[in-house]
Amino acid sequence: MLSARVVFSALLLSACSALAAPAPALTDISKRQSITALTSSQISAFKPFTFFASTAYCQPANTLAWNCGANCNANADFIPTASGGDGSSVQFWYVGFSPSQGSVIVAHQGTDTSQIEADLTDAEAILTNFDTTLFPGISSSVEGHDGFLKEQAKTANTILAAVKTTIAAHGATKVTVVGHSLGGALALLDGVFLPLHISGVTFRTITYGMPRVGNQAFADYVDSHISLTHINNKEDLVPILPGRFLGFHHPSGEVHIMDNNQWVSCPGQDNTSTECSTGDVPNIFDGSTGDHDGPYDGVTMGC
Ligand SMILES: *[C@@H]1O[C@H](CO)[C@@H](O)[C@H](O)[C@H]1NC(C)=O
Repeated sequence: MLSARVVFSALLLSACSALAAPAPALTDISKRQSITALTSSQISAFKPFTFFASTAYCQPANTLAWNCGANCNANADFIPTASGGDGSSVQFWYVGFSPSQGSVIVAHQGTDTSQIEADLTDAEAILTNFDTTLFPGISSSVEGHDGFLKEQAKTANTILAAVKTTIAAHGATKVTVVGHSLGGALALLDGVFLPLHISGVTFRTITYGMPRVGNQAFADYVDSHISLTHINNKEDLVPILPGRFLGFHHPSGEVHIMDNNQWVSCPGQDNTSTECSTGDVPNIFDGSTGDHDGPYDGVTMGC
């Protein structure tokens, strides 16, 4: 669910990026061994979460009733607690408990093509400090995308309350935050935010087609504080935006779906190997908007 506005701003950014980018390094075959392929059971284990991310595109009334067709049916035992957003000034979101995963789920919608306001959020590629009320104790060197932070702040306390309620209601010990596209960025920020206010449970963040969310210090913070997997499909251009030349940097935890449909785990931050997103899509002209919504192991994002 990529907007024309995103593509346009992406084009502008990549034009700069193409000029600023250094010549691609030759692939070092000896280093390739540390990029490992996922087994089919490892890939299948992501599928329920892929559907949870896709479900975030459904209307809040439908996610609250868990009546949204194929997306909801894929996780049929899910027990929703709260949902919200208008798909415009606030992206849809929902919270609930998955008995089969033994986890609270928090999910954020990505960018809806028909919503201009959300598009503007995407176009705001400025790094700024974190609000220390929402993110107590976070260092001032940690910076995030201004638009993503503003968007996350709109739902932060409502989602925090819903997560606490859901943990208590189900005696949950795990919380998993998911999202696709802009929803992936919001999921990562919630993945950093929630553990600062809730203790005694383990957190995991799983995102799809996630843009860069913050600077190098943010990437380092994520690596040392939270468990993140960010899954990128083929030549999707969103994960290479905003450009590294603007100071943005991906944390570790990338899983890249290659053209042969193999899923590989990419070590390190923003890995420039051609088997990983940053190396495979050195600029926008090598990227594809068609790969953004998937399919991720057969799941195409959207309701
Ligand atoms: C990228 O992956 C290679 C394996 O091919 C690894 O040796 C290298 O350290 C990784 N790069 C970063 C930036 O972590």
